[in-house]
Amino acid sequence: MSERIYARIAGTGSYLPEKVLSNEELARTVETSDEWIRERTGITQRHIAADEQTTGDLAYEAALRALEAAGIGVDELDMIIVGTTTPDLIFPSTACLVQARLGAVGSAALDVNAACSGFLYALSVADKFIRCGDAKKVLVIGAETLTRIIDWSDRTTCVLFGDGAGAVVLVADGDTGILSTHLHADGSKKELLWTPAGVSSGFGEGVGSSGTIKMKGNDVFKYAVKALDSVVDEALQANGLGKADLDWLVPHQANLRIIEATAKRLDMSMEQVVVTVDKHGNTSSASVPLALDTAVRSGRIQRGQLLLLEAFGGGFTWGSALLRY
Ligand code: COA
Repeated sequence: MSERIYARIAGTGSYLPEKVLSNEELARTVETSDEWIRERTGITQRHIAADEQTTGDLAYEAALRALEAAGIGVDELDMIIVGTTTPDLIFPSTACLVQARLGAVGSAALDVNAACSGFLYALSVADKFIRCGDAKKVLVIGAETLTRIIDWSDRTTCVLFGDGAGAVVLVADGDTGILSTHLHADGSKKELLWTPAGVSSGFGEGVGSSGTIKMKGNDVFKYAVKALDSVVDEALQANGLGKADLDWLVPHQANLRIIEATAKRLDMSMEQVVVTVDKHGNTSSASVPLALDTAVRSGRIQRGQLLLLEAFGGGFTWGSALLRY
């Protein structure tokens, strides 16, 4: 009888660029206010990458910290997966660029683009490789420089996003780790949250332009709350667990009101929810690993606790991971 292999988080790390942009500063350049942003989103500030800093640079810093926390050398890695929507280049992948800087040549390296669900999609891919025995140690990163694709004159989007990176090192473990991941998408809703330009198609902003984020915020909000309700129910049911079994909710950090709605669905007090959206804004793929690392390093999340991670993003894409930390 074969024993199950789990992918266990051996270490976490994160990195935020130095520059901080407050709501007050934003309100000097676009018609908005600190009060409006805080009340509607919970955001008070966000970090912005320096001109010379790329997604790969942020990813590399987060990776170093995760590897150090895990006590694992780069030469031990079988695979590096980066969830990102804002890669340094069209190719090579950001994962390849990070791999070269780490000196982990030989490991597999790939990017996953699932917008704000990118980290959970990447984590799920890594989990599958470890569970089937094809990899033993995988570095999973969520990293973004989303502020590079923002229209700074559009107050409905420019107040929401920030830059950053988070990472975890997963190792094969015979006892415990990731219990399940669930991934979903609805590509028919692409125009509710997207950048309508790219390499091989450009509508309005020109082929080859990366474009800027367009969003129908209210429609996204309603869809996200419903999708997240269903994905957290799905995660618990699949594992025969109840809401009361959960120690922590580590949600995607897009909007405090969305996070509160999911916590309510799970009958969890906000004391059991990791919230970083106030300080980080929405860092897309980076938001979940950044929140996780913040709570781990502050000592709130402890070994052995049951964590529910979830995310929702453009595509639409959404997903969950239930894990024993
Ligand atoms: N400052 C001041 N007013 C603003 C504003 C800003 N930054 N952005 C929008 N407004 C105005 C709108 O123009 C609108 O004015 P009107 O009533 O005169 O037309 C009013 O505020 C309400 O806009 P609305 O879009 O209905 O607000 P909302 O309560 O839905 O909040 C979001 C807007 C974007 C904060 C909210 O919809 C949201 O968070 N959506 C989900 C976004 C998300 O999570 N995206 C990423 C998923 S990964």
